[in-house]
Amino acid sequence: DWKIENVLEEEMAKIRATVGPKDHVICALSGGVDSTVAATLVHQVLGDRLHCVFVDNGLLRYKEAERVMDTFKNHLHLPVTMIDHSEVMLNRLKGLKDPEEKRKAIGAEFINVFQSFADKFEKEHGITPRYLVQGTLYPDVIESCPPPGTGQKHSHMIKSHHNVGGLPKDLKFTLIEPLRELFKDEVRALGRLPALNVPEAFITRHPFPGPGLAVRVLGDVTEGGALDVLRQVDEIYINTIRDFGLYDKIWQAFAVFLPVRSVGVQGDQRTHSSVVALRAVTSGDGMTADWYPFEPKFLQTVSSRICNGVRSVNRVVYDITSKPPGTIEWE
Ligand code: XMP
Repeated sequence: DWKIENVLEEEMAKIRATVGPKDHVICALSGGVDSTVAATLVHQVLGDRLHCVFVDNGLLRYKEAERVMDTFKNHLHLPVTMIDHSEVMLNRLKGLKDPEEKRKAIGAEFINVFQSFADKFEKEHGITPRYLVQGTLYPDVIESCPPPGTGQKHSHMIKSHHNVGGLPKDLKFTLIEPLRELFKDEVRALGRLPALNVPEAFITRHPFPGPGLAVRVLGDVTEGGALDVLRQVDEIYINTIRDFGLYDKIWQAFAVFLPVRSVGVQGDQRTHSSVVALRAVTSGDGMTADWYPFEPKFLQTVSSRICNGVRSVNRVVYDITSKPPGTIEWE
């Protein structure tokens, strides 16, 4: 019968059977629960032949790179190399508006980073890491791919998750995806097993998409300082959720920068400024979701904190769409 302990044993056995005794492996760490659990599991099998890489892709939240690197240092005893790829990534995204094009560009840039890391590793150690660990989950796979053998081309394809459908066709790495058959709650249970003992700081974090804020700035992410505005709004929003003791009741909460301007009044001045949408959902597995029914007091507080704290925002709206028909992210 199905037990999470057995999943751990089976996945570890698969890695032992696949990766040769001299092979080296790269792991893409994001700071979220999936990649942290995947890395910890692979580390149990391969030890120091696993090399973890955290990429600052320029699409992270407020102070996220420093905070995540600190958490790795203090709680997770795996060596992690940080690579700053933000300039290249943002240049590549310049002018891209279509959500699928954005995801594919981001997937390809992630792979470029891992490829350069592998090339450098080969120069220094005379051996090329041929495997890449990713924290891909079952829902990422289903939402990215039409069901095999059905002849249905796109009807089930919702979005190309950057780590599945967003990968380049000529990928040189063999993927190791120990969570590919699991849902998020199962990954959390796996991470909590004494054999892995992943710190709660990772287990309880809200999910965050690999393409980061790029799917939360609608359209071209490089225009008009949108990323910075979004970072400030998101920080206020999440802190307010924590102040109200709601963080653990919510599956995921975030702000979205809309590519429109609205007329407002601040002091006695007319303004023509940015609009942000707030989203918060409850969910069991990310495949379906309900919008979170905040109390009016919360909405009032967060709206005034945002408009007072972020000068260029004069309107805050709350997204009351479930999934379906909406997805959790807006792109
Ligand atoms: P959607 O928006 O499809 O999201 O309802 C379901 C869950 O997946 C996350 N998400 C992604 N995660 N790469 C990821 O690693 C992606 O391209 C991606 N797109 C969406 C989303 O944040 C939510 O938790």
